[in-house]
Amino acid sequence: MKVALVQNHPIFGMKEKNIDELEKLIRSGSADLYILPEMAYTGYQLKNADELKTIADTVDSPCISRFTKLSEELNAGIILGFPELSADGKIYNSSIFITPEGGRHVYRKTHLFYKEKLFFAPGNTGFDVYEWRGVKIGLAICFDWYFSESFRTLALKGADIIAHCSNLVMPYCQTVDFARAIENRTYIATVNRIGTEERDGEKLTFTGGSVLVSPKGEYLIKAPVESTGIFISEINTAFSRNKSINDLNDVMNDRRPFFYFK
Ligand code: ACM
Repeated sequence: MKVALVQNHPIFGMKEKNIDELEKLIRSGSADLYILPEMAYTGYQLKNADELKTIADTVDSPCISRFTKLSEELNAGIILGFPELSADGKIYNSSIFITPEGGRHVYRKTHLFYKEKLFFAPGNTGFDVYEWRGVKIGLAICFDWYFSESFRTLALKGADIIAHCSNLVMPYCQTVDFARAIENRTYIATVNRIGTEERDGEKLTFTGGSVLVSPKGEYLIKAPVESTGIFISEINTAFSRNKSINDLNDVMNDRRPFFYFK
């Protein structure tokens, strides 16, 4: 499967314009699965909860429909982050996995970061894996990486690749992904944005540098830190399903969970 990491530079609140930019990036490279950042078309830094209400979208909103139409037209999967207004009236920091066959799988961020805790409802979906075109795809969002249990849970559920939609502001994740990929023997796609947002006197700088790491710890993609683009690589489930590292060790079968939570 050909996987594309789409690294963009959204402007806060300019949803249509940001989707135009994402669509242009997506159309500039051919892949089976396109992975976009967290809060991919809204911008990230919120002033307050009322502002979040003005940018949140339902799964069948006109903004998300632009991606579902694109998915159908290109016959490709698209995964992107967005602030989700749910049927229960709560707003989650979510990602959605859209397939051209009509799949609409939503993940709600489990580990909220910093001021997200003031504005978003904590995710209630847990971590799930979806099989599509022979590949098992797990969903996670940004700060989830800080908790090794997130990617471990997805790996234990059989993920070949973890689609990790991000708006990273700390410098560590792209390095830590190396360890997460080899300890779980999964592909990890951390897809980040670039640029800065300065709102209400607080400045956030996003670290770009999206990465795709293989189950053997190879950096198949290392995107630039300061420019947008689409970065494409092939993944192979033969590698993510082979958990043995020598004739006697299998990193999943050798686990001894009885001793881990005492
Ligand atoms: C983050 O979770 N957006 C840092």
